Amino acid sequence: MTRPQVNLTGIRLGLIDQSTVVKVVKEVTEEDRRRQALLDARPPLDTVLNMHDFETIARTVLPEKAWAYYSSASDDEITLRENRMAYQRVWFRPRILRDVSSVDWSTTILGQKSSLPLYISATALGKLGHPDGELCLTKAAANHGVIQMIATLASCAIDDILDAAAPGQTFFLQLYVNRDREITRKYVQHAEARGVKGLFITVDAPQLGRREKDMRMKFVGDDAGAEVQKGQDVKKDQGVARAISSFIDPSLAWKDIPWFKSITKMPIIIKGIATAEDAILAYEAGVQGIVLSNHGGRQLDTARSGLEVLVEVTAALRRRGYWPDPRFEIYVDGGVRRASDVLKAIALGAKAVGVGRPFLYAFCAYGQEGVERAIQLFRDEFEMNMRLLGARTIDEVVPDMVDAGSLAAHTVLTPEDNLFNQTYQPLSLAKFKEAKL
Ligand SMILES: Cc1cc2nc3c(=O)[nH]c(=O)nc-3n(C[C@H](O)[C@H](O)[C@H](O)COP(=O)(O)O)c2cc1C
Repeated sequence: MTRPQVNLTGIRLGLIDQSTVVKVVKEVTEEDRRRQALLDARPPLDTVLNMHDFETIARTVLPEKAWAYYSSASDDEITLRENRMAYQRVWFRPRILRDVSSVDWSTTILGQKSSLPLYISATALGKLGHPDGELCLTKAAANHGVIQMIATLASCAIDDILDAAAPGQTFFLQLYVNRDREITRKYVQHAEARGVKGLFITVDAPQLGRREKDMRMKFVGDDAGAEVQKGQDVKKDQGVARAISSFIDPSLAWKDIPWFKSITKMPIIIKGIATAEDAILAYEAGVQGIVLSNHGGRQLDTARSGLEVLVEVTAALRRRGYWPDPRFEIYVDGGVRRASDVLKAIALGAKAVGVGRPFLYAFCAYGQEGVERAIQLFRDEFEMNMRLLGARTIDEVVPDMVDAGSLAAHTVLTPEDNLFNQTYQPLSLAKFKEAKL
């Protein structure tokens, strides 16, 4: 017997008697064989040197549909690319002769220990890319003291993820708010009862962005969907994203925040703030933090990068006397691929950053081991960059260590990011049907 599952529908699905389960043996197709051959030909993991490597390997080994869902962003994918470029408009002002023989990049996030100033951000549908799905993240995070944010639309059930946790492992929960608040209440309270330490409410997705790479793929067949939607009728002809998002409540508003505070004692963080005005409202609403995020470029295209928004947000909060405030943390996500990116965000006031696609691609390409390698690469880069920057601890990473003067200028020239550009897949146009001439 397996344990009863609680899903977003709040329904206990009951105990499953494994002896009654009919196992369907899937035929090995030509496509399966091709993918296995590609997997066998992957570069050895110790030759993977950065997050772009994971992305390019994932692009090769993933089924087309999974790659389209994971890599896509909305409209012209300008924001997706800007997320990357913004980091390259910030330059370091390193300090020297500071005895950097020992450097420490550990920190706390919402009071929870984290071995790195970053967390694994929520990305839905992990099983599209790897049979173990999000569990690859869970196990790697446990081994490295990194916090995992569980997605509402994870392929693995929240209980399966939490059951796989190491003792004392920290999790946050990403929440898409259901139109039926009772369902949301049960889901949140269940997570809290199981020891989840922070509630990240996603507010930038009242409707999901039109992600054209994804929309060109039909989400049909027996693909791994979100665990929370098992048994529900989901529309499958508009790409994966649209198929799984219909329950999200577009009427969500600031007036709902007190209700969330009434149903949980977990810290509440608003994920998807994009302006100083909304950062101020969030502070005044009494939440414990915000994520400056454009959802990895998947929502409003030509929204600015979280990094650029960070500068405006800290200035506005400071002017009002709201910040710095140890009870209010600011995070940034989108486009983080190097420890140097993280250090720039921290110098500009972020407590930590969220990393989405890189960990997702790492496990699609290599499972748990890939995620462990990705974390190790971040560590190596932290060690080097902190020494070179002259910062021995995360507290010593200060605003004077960066020049963000051209961050808001979208026209400046910087050297091209060759690795990113090599992997980035340009959008394609509608194709003609085979003409009967
Ligand atoms: C495939 C994919 C699925 C995602 N699913 C969710 C989700 O279910 N909920 C959410 O709040 N954010 C989701 N995000 C956004 C991430 O949490 C994060 O904001 C974003 O990935 C950061 O950008 P990065 O991928 O460049 O690191 C998703 C992102 C990707 C790439």
